[in-house]
Amino acid sequence: MTEIFGIMIVGSGRKRPPAGLTTENHPTHMLALKEESRMSILVTGGCGYIGSHTCIELLKAGRDIVVIDNYYNAKPEALRRVKELAGKDFPFYECDIRDEEGLRRVFAAHDIEAVIHFAGLKAVGESVSKPLEYYDNNVGGTVTLCRVMAEAGCKRIVFSSSATVYGMNNPSPLKEDMPTGAVTNPYGRTKYIIEEILKDVCVSDPAWTAVLLRYFNPIGAHESGRIGEDPNGIPNNLMPYISQVAIGKLPQLAIHGDDYDTHDGTGVRDYIHVVDLADGHLKAVDYAMTHTGAEAFNLGTGRGYSVLDLVKAFESANGVPVPHVIGPRRAGDIATCYSDPSKAERVLGWKAKRGVEDMCRDSWRWQSQNPKGYDE
Ligand code: WQD
Repeated sequence: MTEIFGIMIVGSGRKRPPAGLTTENHPTHMLALKEESRMSILVTGGCGYIGSHTCIELLKAGRDIVVIDNYYNAKPEALRRVKELAGKDFPFYECDIRDEEGLRRVFAAHDIEAVIHFAGLKAVGESVSKPLEYYDNNVGGTVTLCRVMAEAGCKRIVFSSSATVYGMNNPSPLKEDMPTGAVTNPYGRTKYIIEEILKDVCVSDPAWTAVLLRYFNPIGAHESGRIGEDPNGIPNNLMPYISQVAIGKLPQLAIHGDDYDTHDGTGVRDYIHVVDLADGHLKAVDYAMTHTGAEAFNLGTGRGYSVLDLVKAFESANGVPVPHVIGPRRAGDIATCYSDPSKAERVLGWKAKRGVEDMCRDSWRWQSQNPKGYDE
């Protein structure tokens, strides 16, 4: 309960009075303050591909958000478009999760009831050549974030984890109670280590909640075509690569191997629409409000598609050719990876709704309307 100018504000969403507030107890001001005083959700890395899509769904659901991002792998234009699409404004701070004082200022200015933590480096190949950067940023940054959260009394975190924590030895469909950690690259190991850190934090203080969301392969874009995946340089991931071939930015797709033990020899993955993934985060925040402890959930469709399946689906959904050749396998790839998403359905009440055609059509709409991504 916070008192400002003699007006009692329950669960103040801001610890400083909104600028220009007068001291009169005019009912309108009371209403305005109550509106202002709702709790907020902090979204770290909210300017990125999955973060920006999640911000839109949070705003659509009437949630108040605060966003931080260091713009390492994101552009301010993405958030401008989030505000345009949601028709709502929200506080944004350019802040690195390793900046303890910067984080303290955010928590001092807003009543944060939960954190959705996307911020992190995520290029598998880059992590092999720059492991210290990945451990410093992803692991060190998360430790700093959790310390500041605890100081501020905010002990609910929804963590952007990855199916990569299941490593190479588990058979698909992957289940949350399978062993994790046998990971083949530093990026994946940071995700595994952070999961273990959050589990330890929950054991050390039973007031904490950590929801560990293990993403499979997010693709697609918001139906407006205004926001989407905008990788720096040549894409590592399949769908942005397909989209750039289809628009003529890249000459052809090299399929990394067709001699895997799958129905057509090419790699099988569980592709999930980014908006379904975003919805999963809203369900995870709701869960965190009424539960404590650490809990992992797969966010996937439970269906696997091969590289050739996805190429054909993209060509058919959009009526555009995707020239492709078979190339050598990519180091570190596994043949098949898809989820058993039943726990998220049972416990979170979440299930992916969009199919591979929607994913291909929405990816293409974003790419064809934004040939240079956000660099217009
Ligand atoms: C999918 C399939 C490739 C590109 C990675 C990370 C994971 C997560 C998602 C961050 C594979 C094939 C790809 C190409 C191809 N990242 N492919 N030609 O490897 O399943 O997962 O991205 O959270 O942690 O490991 O996704 O899109 O790179 O590959 O043939 O030019 O497409 O071999 O079978 P992946 P991907």
